[in-house]
Amino acid sequence: MAKEEQDLLEKVVSLCKRRGFVFPGSEIYGGLANSWDYGPLGVELKNNIQQLWWKKFVQSRDDMVGIDAAVIMSPKVWEASEHIKSFTDPLVECKKCHQRFREDQIGKDCPSCGNKEFSEAKQFNLMFPVHLGSTEDSGVTSYLRGEIAQAMFVNFKNILDSTRVRVPFGIASQGKAFRNEITPGNFIFRTREFNLMEFEYFVREEDWEKWFEYWRKEMLNWLKDLGIDLKHVHEVEIPDGERAHYSKRTIDFEYDYPFGQKELYGLAYRTTFDLDNHMRSSGEDLNYVDPESGEKFVPHVIEPTFGIDRSVLVALLDAYHEEGDPAKDGASRIVLKLPFKLAPYKVAVFPLLKNKPELVKKAQEIYKNLKQDFNAVWDDRGNIGKRYYAQDEIGTPYCVTVDFDTLENDTVTIRDRDTAKQERIGIKDLPSFLRDKLS
Ligand code: GAP
Repeated sequence: MAKEEQDLLEKVVSLCKRRGFVFPGSEIYGGLANSWDYGPLGVELKNNIQQLWWKKFVQSRDDMVGIDAAVIMSPKVWEASEHIKSFTDPLVECKKCHQRFREDQIGKDCPSCGNKEFSEAKQFNLMFPVHLGSTEDSGVTSYLRGEIAQAMFVNFKNILDSTRVRVPFGIASQGKAFRNEITPGNFIFRTREFNLMEFEYFVREEDWEKWFEYWRKEMLNWLKDLGIDLKHVHEVEIPDGERAHYSKRTIDFEYDYPFGQKELYGLAYRTTFDLDNHMRSSGEDLNYVDPESGEKFVPHVIEPTFGIDRSVLVALLDAYHEEGDPAKDGASRIVLKLPFKLAPYKVAVFPLLKNKPELVKKAQEIYKNLKQDFNAVWDDRGNIGKRYYAQDEIGTPYCVTVDFDTLENDTVTIRDRDTAKQERIGIKDLPSFLRDKLS
């Protein structure tokens, strides 16, 4: 990893901790390796990403419905989906230091001790077993879900029976997934517990290529919504033998992380693999019947999948900017250039001086009013320059300052995060100014 790039990850991780985006998990107990908690700003960013996705792919479309399913499903689901048999990664052990690695993620030398001899690769299952029941010898063993997709297949009949969807249509979901990863790491890039959003899009067999192409383009459009420069994204066709067990075609969207080009999202053609398996195992009829022609068939599935934590990570990496050279002009700033819709706070409100009650009173009025419609934040610490610096660092797009002119003419200054330019604007125009940025 180049020094500069390594620095970028370190800087983002440090900013996340310092300003309350992401904290190391269980920290007061010395931490739990590869577990992370979203803090006050991180949860806003993550929720904004999830809400934007839900609005784009579910609420604003006529061909998509959502579900929110249980994390623990019947073990029969995972047998039918072949996750128990095939959801594995190849594991090798270094013969010298006995560290274990994913065979496909290392070169010829052990990343830990440099030794060149490894054990034979064996297939390591990623599913997390959970014991259900109050005693060791009663109850059943099931699994924390390894992907959220299965709930969409298992509820396929419920959706057909309770809604008016017609092929082509999709079922979408967001939520936690769990995988006993052999080598988690790189901050929130690969963890054992992570957040996913994805949909299963049901189509006629003859249309699968058309829809695969359609969703490929929509995934790129989504990345633009996240503010990602598409120069940092690469589409990689996954060859035979390397795809997940259910997929006949997969494109991975890979991103230039500071630790290398790696997977961000995936797009898979799952054929009728899952519905066929569940039909066979459950005995339920999972055919779709065309209401006009009466034609009966099992729909084919296109699946766009989006890791939420990786979305948060790339949004932060792409947004992170350092401007100015402290050695040259003494003025430098860190700016998170997050798109308005993703920014944790949309606007900060300050009184020019903290010790002037008339300014504080007016600024509080404006703040409380804006807070009803936007996530606004109050700041009266230090001087204005320090407040701007603090807001730039967490990506707040606008700062509103109440000064003595405000008391005369009901105008304020509004400062733009990216250009650092200020303009005067009427107090009454603030809500529409901000609302425009949301559309
Ligand atoms: N239903 C399809 C599916 O689960 P996947 O490629 O195995 O496909 C989907 O996972 C997405 O979840 C990935 O593209 C990635 O964004 C994210 N992801 C996978 N494993 C992860 C992990 N251990 N930690 C964080 N995100 C992960």
